[in-house]
Amino acid sequence: MTSLVVGSAFISRLCSVLSPRRKPLLPSRAMAADGATVGGLCLEHVTVQRGQRCILTDVSMPIREGGVTAIVGPSGAGKTTLLGVLNGLIRPTAGQVVLNGMGCLSSPETLQIHRRRTATVFQEHALIDRISALDNVLLGLADRRHPLSPLPWPAELQEQAAAALQEVGLLPHAHARAANLSGGERQRVGIARAMVRQPRLLLGDEPFSALDPGLAASLGSLLKGYAQASGVTVVLVLHQLDMARRLADRIVGLRDGRVCFDGPASDFDLAVQQHLFASTPSLSGEPT
Ligand SMILES: Nc1ncnc2c1ncn2[C@@H]1O[C@H](COP(=O)(O)OP(=O)(O)OP(=O)(O)O)[C@@H](O)[C@H]1O
Ligand SMILES: [Mg+2]
Repeated sequence: MTSLVVGSAFISRLCSVLSPRRKPLLPSRAMAADGATVGGLCLEHVTVQRGQRCILTDVSMPIREGGVTAIVGPSGAGKTTLLGVLNGLIRPTAGQVVLNGMGCLSSPETLQIHRRRTATVFQEHALIDRISALDNVLLGLADRRHPLSPLPWPAELQEQAAAALQEVGLLPHAHARAANLSGGERQRVGIARAMVRQPRLLLGDEPFSALDPGLAASLGSLLKGYAQASGVTVVLVLHQLDMARRLADRIVGLRDGRVCFDGPASDFDLAVQQHLFASTPSLSGEPT
């Protein structure tokens, strides 16, 4: 059990060793996890159909390396489905996803490399309740060791996981069972589990929805800072439109599975917002 190996003394030592000026957890351009230079990726005429229904229809968009893209749109517009296509978990019914210089995700080899370089913060956190916060973060590194290994996690990986928890302010809760964490704390464990992978593409599905505004703003700035400093490509589904404007270079507006807006965040004005959310049933007034 990992928790037997990483004890509280280890955590306290890490707390004192991890200074605010430590090396960033996400890799720099020159330090991509597998040493490769990674370009952006491009969705080409992607359609996702379930039964008779088109959830995404003819979606085309290049995603350049190193930027922050926000995906916004009404509930049910297809945002989570779009992220699933981007991380390779959902295969398009038509069209393709092309990695610059590496071919299509329909190739099993390309898909495997893409998955290794990609991390996702899931909308429902997808934590395992009965294990600790730290062990949940370590699961982000599951593909870095043999799946049947009976050995404890190597110390280096444990330190990376602890550093990721430190990044999101949860190191003191490293040994708490996920089941006992608050909604916002669970969400932060999900963010740490994605960051610990040192991805080249970081996808977040409403990654700040359970956080108070201050924490949401600081974690948003953390991810934006990483994207700017290290060339990691960040794509975030956001319901908070003010945050989308503040964090993203580019905003993609989805409605009924189609791209309605795709442009610089500065062009996403009130008129565009009203068009995107027009006639959306709302229980509590306008979107923020
Ligand atoms: N496997 C599926 N089978 C059938 N319908 C699906 C499936 N997955 C998603 N849908 C439908 O596709 C639509 C888009 O779903 P998606 O989860 O992508 O929306 P979303 O924009 O992320 O919504 P929200 O903001 O509420 O999270 C929804 O109406 C959903 O019910
Ligand atoms: Mg969703």
